[in-house]
Amino acid sequence: MRFSAVAALLAATCSSAATGSVQKRDLATSEPHYPSPWMNPQASGWEDAYEKARAFVSQLTLMEKVNLTTGVGWEGEQCVGQVGSIPRLGLRSLCMQDSPLGVRFGDYVSAFSSGQTVAATFDRSLMYQRGKAMGEEHKGKGVNVVLGPVAGPLGRTPTGGRGWEGFSPDPYLTGVGMSETIKGIQDAGVIACAKHYIGNEQEHFRQVGESQDRGYNISETLSSNIDDKTMHELYLWPFVDAVRAGVGSVMCAYTQVNNSYSCQNSKTLNGLLKGELGFQGFVMSDWQAQHSGAASAMAGMDMSMPGDTVFNSGLSYWGTNLTVAILNGTVPEYRMDDMAMRIMAAFFKVGMTLDQPPINFDSWTSDTYGPLHAAVGQDYQQVNWHVDVQDDHGDLIREIGGASTVLLKNNGALPLSKPKFLAVVGEDAGPNPLGPNGCADRGCDAGTLAMGWGSGTTTFPYLVTPIDALNLQAIEDHTRIEAIFNNTASDTIESLVKQQDATALVFVNADSGEGYIDVDGNEGDRKNLTLWGNGDELIKSVSSLCNNTIVIIHSVGPTIVTDWYDSENVTAILWAGLPGQESGRSIVDVLYGRVNPAARTPFTWAADPSDYGTDVLYKPNNGNGAPQQDYTEGVFIDYRALDSRNITPIFEFGFGLSYTTFEYANLNVEKSNAGEYQPTTGESDEAPTFGNFSDSLADYVFPADSFPHIWQYIYPYVNTSSSLEEASADPDYGQTAEEFLPPGAVDSSPRPLEPAGPSLTAQPGGNELLFDTMYTITADVTNTGKIVGEEVPQLYVSLGGPDDPPVVLRGFDRMRIDPGQTTQFRAILTRRDLSNWDVTLQNWLVSEASKTVYVGPSSRKLPLSAQLR
Ligand code: NOJ
Repeated sequence: MRFSAVAALLAATCSSAATGSVQKRDLATSEPHYPSPWMNPQASGWEDAYEKARAFVSQLTLMEKVNLTTGVGWEGEQCVGQVGSIPRLGLRSLCMQDSPLGVRFGDYVSAFSSGQTVAATFDRSLMYQRGKAMGEEHKGKGVNVVLGPVAGPLGRTPTGGRGWEGFSPDPYLTGVGMSETIKGIQDAGVIACAKHYIGNEQEHFRQVGESQDRGYNISETLSSNIDDKTMHELYLWPFVDAVRAGVGSVMCAYTQVNNSYSCQNSKTLNGLLKGELGFQGFVMSDWQAQHSGAASAMAGMDMSMPGDTVFNSGLSYWGTNLTVAILNGTVPEYRMDDMAMRIMAAFFKVGMTLDQPPINFDSWTSDTYGPLHAAVGQDYQQVNWHVDVQDDHGDLIREIGGASTVLLKNNGALPLSKPKFLAVVGEDAGPNPLGPNGCADRGCDAGTLAMGWGSGTTTFPYLVTPIDALNLQAIEDHTRIEAIFNNTASDTIESLVKQQDATALVFVNADSGEGYIDVDGNEGDRKNLTLWGNGDELIKSVSSLCNNTIVIIHSVGPTIVTDWYDSENVTAILWAGLPGQESGRSIVDVLYGRVNPAARTPFTWAADPSDYGTDVLYKPNNGNGAPQQDYTEGVFIDYRALDSRNITPIFEFGFGLSYTTFEYANLNVEKSNAGEYQPTTGESDEAPTFGNFSDSLADYVFPADSFPHIWQYIYPYVNTSSSLEEASADPDYGQTAEEFLPPGAVDSSPRPLEPAGPSLTAQPGGNELLFDTMYTITADVTNTGKIVGEEVPQLYVSLGGPDDPPVVLRGFDRMRIDPGQTTQFRAILTRRDLSNWDVTLQNWLVSEASKTVYVGPSSRKLPLSAQLR
């Protein structure tokens, strides 16, 4: 019940207690940034939402505001996270639910493709439609906040366990994926949550408890040490697109950034997100990622999830403590009002109204009846209504599956046409013997791989395996088909695939997921880049016996294909990502040419793991202090890393074949009349407060007469009406945020706007002049083959500076072109696309360096180029 100012002070200033080999003075530090920028009700796109929020929040008592900001505790209600309700005004508890590919723990829901898979479509419309369909399903279940999409991890290293939940290690492609998905989700009337902010690039050491359980002796979570330029040009980039798309919430991560916990890092939350990007929604913590009370409030966190300090402790950094912190002045009132306003503005922005439909599913049981408060087994009642929200989303999932399948190699073996004999080999072609949902949170690799593991999953309503769909096609075609799902049945496989007329389809996979599950020694992150289940050996042995071996890979990212990809018996290779429930039908569409492949690999396939130049930190490197992950590679990840060191990949970023061919011609560059870039000037308004709270402690005592107290549940109430000072056992009682934070940290008077940020009435996402069009680029693309196909022309820019990657992606489109026809590709380059972050100016700058624009079908096939003048 007391607020510990001492704990907050320690957490705010030395969140990493370095006691090991690296001395504290050597560690990266994060500069303080206060005060926390408050709401700007004039921000473009947020005006109506803030007006409604103001009308609502003005009526709230302090405890009701606290209720909005603090979760009720792990498994306290039906969703993975819920805050307290405001029954007096008819608002039920808000429901936060995973995941970025469907409704986690729901029944009668769809299992969509992963983010990385839809990224491979390079198709904005499919990204949007997927977001919209997922949003509709969440809405239909009573969810208020969808915990996705993901831009952290971005994909610094291909071994990182959760890269598949996001889109691509290329920030531009991820930015488009974020923007389209968010628009889709929010157009369906639910709030999206851009996560995990920021530098959350690996699973090892993301949480202390999880790491200790595995025998790692650490006392603080990993610190991602990221310099200012890399932060802006790489990791923050897609979050800019998220904010511009109007995202309602952002989830701060488990990891630290420059040795300050992400959920109390005033530089990244106050400085970058709310200041520079002008984000108007709310920041929620990842589950147990909050490490302090007042410090996290002052650093810009707005909602504590799931509300308890550690799961089921019954204790909270906020809840009661936040009530007390406001009453005793440790946290200023305007910060509390700002939290409540941000949450309610996001709520109204997506069109929600106070009469929210009930939550009709339960995350903790699939039974119809169960305890409403699962953590404590209390309030037995109906908790599942088994509402079918799938609509016809299966069709979209099938379409995305085909549109995202990358044809990496084809020696004329594909498309198949009534093959005489198919020998299907590999565990990945068939079902999991335990059923598609047989492993909790998909934490195993059995049968065909259609999603990774962890919280970023959902319940399959069905899973069409490759063999299901292949069999049906074979029956139609009178094809002989036999399948072996055991990767180690060498003799049986050998005798099958060496038979005359065999076309071997070898299905292989590589899995990964979230750090709380270890699958075969892969503690979330992959321990290597080989195929699972001895897949590489399987391919080698099949292709040594069968001269028409077609390989299909389902994976969470690249694998090392060096040993077998160029064997002439390997006649085709397809990467089918993690396609979700329609896996089999999607791959058969492509194999048989009903869908002409056009997808592009959203990451690089290097010849050797070391070519990526980055890796997961697998062993603590700072004694028992926070493991230190220095991002010394800067902006050079994935293709930028290989390009800059002149390393040839096996399949480059953006590469993918078609069953037809295309040619590029007639590049044209047109300069626009954009004015000069100007830093934003002006001031914010004063921080508003809404008053309306009593300072009599008696008014905050738990109303035992009104309802029963639930053990472990997090409330905003206090349990004594004695004086606050007496109530507090804190020896430093009475210390205010002003005393433990830098001078001016709680100043609520008008503040100068950030020069790189939006002006008062502009759309959030940064200085609006960054989005001016500088050039319009066009090029002609001709289908030179015999069948209709889709092509993905890509626009790359060389920014020309000594520290710049040779090329960076800055535009793309997916165009359907009839044989013999020519279609014009058109893309624009904004000022942002051509700028570097200038660490001295603390702003974006188009450098003097000469810049070149390239257009072509992949990051390494760029037949057209021109200087930008
Ligand atoms: C932790 C994960 O990191 C996050 O992505 C997820 O939304 C929460 N758990 C809730 O399940």
